[in-house]
Amino acid sequence: MGVKTAGFGVIGISGRGSGMLRELISVPGVNVVAVCDKYEDRAKHGAEIVKQYRGTDAAVYLDYKELLKRDDIQAILCCTTWITHARIAVDAMRAGKHVAIEVGGAASVEECWQMVRASEETGKFCMLLENCCYDRDELAVFNMKTLGIFGEITHLEGGYRHDLRDEISLGREKRHGRLVNFMYRNGELYPTHQLGPISKLIGINRGNRFLTLCSMSSKSRGLNCWIKENMGEDYDIADYSFNQGDVVTTLIKCANGETIQLTHDCCTPRPYSRDYVVQGTKATFCEAKEGKNWIYIDNVSPRHEWEYFEKYRNKYEHPLWRNYDSSGHGHGGMDYLVLSAFAEAAVNDLAPPIDVYDTAAWMAITCLSEQSSAMGGMPVPVPDFTNGMWIEREPYRRGKYCLEEVCHDFFENEESKEEKEQ
Ligand SMILES: NC(=O)c1ccc[n+]([C@@H]2O[C@H](COP(=O)([O-])OP(=O)(O)OC[C@H]3O[C@@H](n4cnc5c(N)ncnc54)[C@H](O)[C@@H]3O)[C@@H](O)[C@H]2O)c1
Repeated sequence: MGVKTAGFGVIGISGRGSGMLRELISVPGVNVVAVCDKYEDRAKHGAEIVKQYRGTDAAVYLDYKELLKRDDIQAILCCTTWITHARIAVDAMRAGKHVAIEVGGAASVEECWQMVRASEETGKFCMLLENCCYDRDELAVFNMKTLGIFGEITHLEGGYRHDLRDEISLGREKRHGRLVNFMYRNGELYPTHQLGPISKLIGINRGNRFLTLCSMSSKSRGLNCWIKENMGEDYDIADYSFNQGDVVTTLIKCANGETIQLTHDCCTPRPYSRDYVVQGTKATFCEAKEGKNWIYIDNVSPRHEWEYFEKYRNKYEHPLWRNYDSSGHGHGGMDYLVLSAFAEAAVNDLAPPIDVYDTAAWMAITCLSEQSSAMGGMPVPVPDFTNGMWIEREPYRRGKYCLEEVCHDFFENEESKEEKEQ
């Protein structure tokens, strides 16, 4: 039997959109029939990518609302900007399409509710494409949690620490969306890379939820300093008073008692890190600075000594990664996995592993942290976008890409083949 296919449209074809489009085309079942960007050269580039990698013609649009009118499109991949994702997602669902949006925080709590209501009213899903949920070590840690290795999890940390001073500062030259956010906003602008895996680890929206948060921002210096050094003192925004603090720290309290610390840090000179920490009553995982992660397991690791996580990799590898050749795929392979999860759900009309409640709750952290930071770190409540259903949700869909459970039975053929080969 052939693979079921569906028509896809892709909106937003800049750096990220063109990379994701290339990946999406290679996912079984995906037929990209239309592409869109408000810049004509980028929209046309999207069609060239489809031609080059798939050999088919994709229609080109500059207005995404026109693209949404097509009845041969079942799902939309949206890789636009932080302040456009939610409204495009709402329009896509209301036009009868499933939608996946790239990561970024929400501008308002209201737009999160709009996504939730559009999904509930149309029956179409809205999936945040949080690729880090499918990262190799994040999934191995998830597997360890399901096996009880961490005991009861009490505290988690994560960050987006990425030196983007050039990309942000040269936003106008590069026609990039970040700059205006750093000019006008001040908060945890990019929460989900670590908050996504963290939320799945502690059952947010399924038996747990975010209750309150407080956020504080440092002063803003990094962008001015970089601009002066690289663009000269006379560059027009060299002395611009950026709102966004260089380092923003946010603390979230969860209904089941866990605390989560998030760090946003994109304007200081430093290597990339997501600073992932998982602390439980029986073990602690810690992302290391030299590219190797650490673990300490009570009564297993030498007392008071970290061990390299690598030592435990084989034992705890998530089955999705066991036979996965990630070479050639974006971000070490996690981009292809998150797109496969999206496509599987969209083509077969199934619930996605990251649903609209996850999307809304994770994205809302941004505008809530802006509010808290503006009030000197005052705690602010996080809305319950499930309207109480987090206490008793409908069952999740099990499958290979499930992020609530490791569904070994879906890998049985592969795992038994592996055992025979050993
Ligand atoms: N998950 C990841 O690892 C990862 C990596 C990089 C970027 N991203 C995210 O992907 C998104 C895109 O990133 P980017 O670097 O390509 O940003 P960008 O600002 O360079 O590109 C956004 C594109 O969207 C287009 N666009 C905006 N509004 C539109 C509209 N209404 N209609 C049609 N097109 C519109 C713009 O013209 C632009 O080409 C961002 O949310 C970013 O945070 C995620």
